[in-house]
Amino acid sequence: MVKIAPSLLSADFMNLAKEIEAVQKAGADILHLDVMDGHFVPNLTFGLPIIKQIKEIAAIPLDVHLMVTNPANYLEILGKWNIEYVSFHQETEFHIHRQIHVLKNAGVKAGIALNPATPVESIFPVLPDLDFVLLMSVNPGFGGQSFLPLVYDKIRKLKQQAEICNPKLEIEVDGGVNNQNASELIANGVDILVAGSYVFGSDNYRAKIESLK
Ligand code: DX5
Ligand code: ZN
Repeated sequence: MVKIAPSLLSADFMNLAKEIEAVQKAGADILHLDVMDGHFVPNLTFGLPIIKQIKEIAAIPLDVHLMVTNPANYLEILGKWNIEYVSFHQETEFHIHRQIHVLKNAGVKAGIALNPATPVESIFPVLPDLDFVLLMSVNPGFGGQSFLPLVYDKIRKLKQQAEICNPKLEIEVDGGVNNQNASELIANGVDILVAGSYVFGSDNYRAKIESLK
């Protein structure tokens, strides 16, 4: 069964605790947290202090998506706080093998995120070490952008390679996910769907999450 991870980027930040409770009650499986540094991506969101407080109230696993130029500064601390999923971008880190193992040693599910233009083949050497791969289906930085169908080919290539070297690998797709593309994504073997504006832009979170499933 596919897991739905609403992205808090599109939630009402003035009522974050209520939004988290509402989306959990509505059937969310994971909470997706977008950390942006205004450098790797042209936008700023939130960082460690907010993640720590969200962790204290969350009843479901957290998935921290680091869109920052120096992800290595944050991996150990996220592990200490028992964050369940953490991904950083291949494009931001020279030593992805080393940092994947920092996460794994801290007991965190380790993921690499890839921009739309970054080939999946670039991470094939470390695929056996990973717990998940986050494929961006928009250029990172903002919620509410249109889905890029180029991701389908990347999913198929990744799935094929994972069957050979890491059948337990989870594939996560992030950006522009809605009820128009969810079924094709699931049919291609996606395990986790991130959805920001599609869920939080509605007044019935449950209906939106169910429509994706
Ligand atoms: C974009 C973020 C996404 C974003 C998705 O840089 O990584 O997680 O919140 O938002 P939607 O679902 O609205 O495209
Ligand atoms: Zn994200």
